[in-house]
Parts: sequence; structure tokens; C-alpha cells
Amino acid sequence: MTTPLAIDGGPPVRTQPWPSWPVWDDRELQALTDTLRSGAWAAIGGTQVHALEQEFALAHGARHGIACASGSAALEVALRAAGIDWGDEVLTTAYTFIATANACLLLGALPRFADVLPGTWNIDPESVRRRITPRTRAIVAVHIAGEPADMDALRQIAREHSLPLIEDSAQAHGARWRGQPVGSMGDMGTFSFQISKNMNAGEGGMVLSNSDAYAERCWSIVNVGRQREGAFYHHAGLSGNYRLPEWPAAVLRVQLQRLEEQSARRSENAAYLFDAVDEVPGLTPVRGDARVTQFAHHLVRFMYAPEQFNGRPPQDFVRAMIAEGIPIQQGYPIPLSRHPVVVERSAFIRTRLGMPQEAPDRCPVCEKVCAQGLWLPQWVLLADYRAMDDIVRAAQRIQQAWA
Ligand SMILES: Cc1ncc(COP(=O)(O)O)c(C=O)c1O
Repeated sequence: MTTPLAIDGGPPVRTQPWPSWPVWDDRELQALTDTLRSGAWAAIGGTQVHALEQEFALAHGARHGIACASGSAALEVALRAAGIDWGDEVLTTAYTFIATANACLLLGALPRFADVLPGTWNIDPESVRRRITPRTRAIVAVHIAGEPADMDALRQIAREHSLPLIEDSAQAHGARWRGQPVGSMGDMGTFSFQISKNMNAGEGGMVLSNSDAYAERCWSIVNVGRQREGAFYHHAGLSGNYRLPEWPAAVLRVQLQRLEEQSARRSENAAYLFDAVDEVPGLTPVRGDARVTQFAHHLVRFMYAPEQFNGRPPQDFVRAMIAEGIPIQQGYPIPLSRHPVVVERSAFIRTRLGMPQEAPDRCPVCEKVCAQGLWLPQWVLLADYRAMDDIVRAAQRIQQAWA
């Protein structure tokens, strides 16, 4: 008799704990204690934020880094630095976290959505090209799941149309496209240091740029419209306070030192896992574009084919895998082009500006990815090969039980 699945009362495949996240040790403790004792808790008067900006920019091949409160804030800052304003259109991907679209909407701009590529789930440059209109003022590429988008094609399009190109690299710390680090290939690159991210301090963000002008604008926007060399109460423009305190910066400087080693481990485990998963009918790993020289593997992506699981929907598979001790999940549930918050706010902006209403951008590939795509979080790749085997054994067991 075969052992029942864990969801049917059998013993789970994996009972061992997963690596704990976030990772920290005495070095973070020391950095925090030093910051506490220094009495300099804010970037103004402190050293940590400034040092982090320099070290993070250097690690990504950028000349400037401007730290801020979150990845969402970084996107708003970058869009404002690019001059995005009411009624402007910003082209981005339909498959991303809502913050990418919200940053546009919060400025009164209209996010327009390009479809994604089936082999990477990243923004499709041809779809971008087709959706450029006379109102388009910027392109925001997202390096989804830690895989760099096709920056060759996107840079070409941005150049042809004289549009600023922003890289939302919230999920892609240290990733490289044909040897070039993300965040430094476009006009600006934004990052998140929120707790789930490969490099984190609970919360935090960063904008990178190679342009002196963009960097100065970002710095001013982060700092209530001040100017770097200006007086404290001189405000050259309207802005808020988006600053990062010294605490997360102190932690992030240590986290940055771990990034390369952790990335190497994730890459090794991902390669092993992808080869092993090939043995499971109906579960296809998304290996990505061959031109990517370093993946950040923030999310480990799979396409699920219900027909290989006797027609059972992905939700059933997710529940069964979780019962087996494997923390898989469905990704973004719908393309952002159809998200009610995005649709309603876009309609409001159009009404306010007297613009005609428009139907949501159609993104059929993204629809399929939302319906059938699955993720594992990055920290599973910090475990050992046996853990990768457990993932495969659990999937195999379910597939065999249901097929
Ligand atoms: C692609 C993407 N953009 C932006 C963000 C926003 O970052 P944060 O949560 O730090 O505001 C996230 C993180 O959740 C993200 O995944």
C-alpha cells in the first residue's frame, strides 16, 4: 500500500526546519550597539547611511546611492526625480508587486502595462514598444524574482524614445545582466530592504544612479526639498522626509557583506533543484534568460500544469505541498492591469484630468503566469541539497498520487 499524502493524513516528506530568516549574528549586534552608543541615530550627523550608500552603489557599479525608507519610497523618489507628474503615462510590467504601480498612481500618473515573456515572467520589450503613446514619460522595468529583465532591448527602446528607464530592483540585489549589475544600467535603479528581501533590515530602500543630476534630485526629494550644500532651512522644492535612519543602515552594511556568499549558495541549490524538478511531470522550473550572468533567486519560479495532476488546480497543489512541509505559494493573483486599486485610481485620475476612460491593458501571458505560476521563497535555497530533494520528493509524491 502506498503511503497517503500528508494532506490525507500521511507523514509529511519534510519535518526538518527550514533555514531561519533573516540571517544575523554578532556583527549586526555590534553594529547596532555601536550606533546606539554613538548617539548619532539619524543620517544627519551619522556615518552609517552615508557609508551604506557608497558601499551599496559600489557593489552595483553605480556612482551614487541615495538611501530612503522603503522600496516603495525609492520608486516614488525616482519617478519624481524623472519629472513624472499628473496625467503622465509610465510603462511597466503587469507582473510585479503593487508598489510599482502605486508609485505612479500616488503621483497622479497613469501606469500602463506591458505583458511579460513566458520564459522569464519579465517585461516583454516588444509589448513595451507597442504600448508607448505620446503621453509615455518613463519606463519602469522590474527584475522580477531576482532575474534581470532584458536590459539590452529596454535600453534601446528607452534611447529611441528619449524616455528615462528606471530599474525596480527590489527583488534583485546583486543580480547581473551580461555581467552588469542591476540598478546601474538604467537612469535610476531602486531597491527594497524589506524583511523578505535577499538583503534586508526589516525595512529600507535605495535609489542608485550614475547621473549626477538624478542623484541630486533624489537626494533633495528624500530630504524635504533641501539641497546637499544648502542651508538646513533652505527648501528648493516641495517634498517630504523619506530618509533612512542609522539603525537599518548599520545592519545593511553587514548584510551586504553576506550577499555574495548567500547568492552563490542560492545559485548552487537552484541549479540542483531545477535539474531534479525536471523529473516531475507538470512542474516546470523557470530557468530564465541565458544572458543573465547572476540571478538573485529572490523567488524560485515554477509553472504548474493541472493536466499532469488530473486537473487539480494549483491551489490544491499548494495546499498539498504545504502539508508535506514545503512552503510553496501562488504568486501575484492577477495582472496589475486588472487590479481594482489600479483600475479605480486610474479612472479617478482620468476623470479629474478630463481624459477619456480606457480599458485595462490586455496581458495574456501574465494572466497565465498568475493562474499557474508558483513560488518558493529565497531562503529555501539557503538550505542543503537534501532539502532540495525533499521539495522534489513532495512534488513527485503528489503528482503520482493524483495522476
Ligand atoms: C518588485 C517590487 N517593487 C517594490 C517593492 C516595494 O518595496 P517595499 O516593500 O520596501 O516598499 C517590492 C517589495 O515588496 C517589490 O517586490
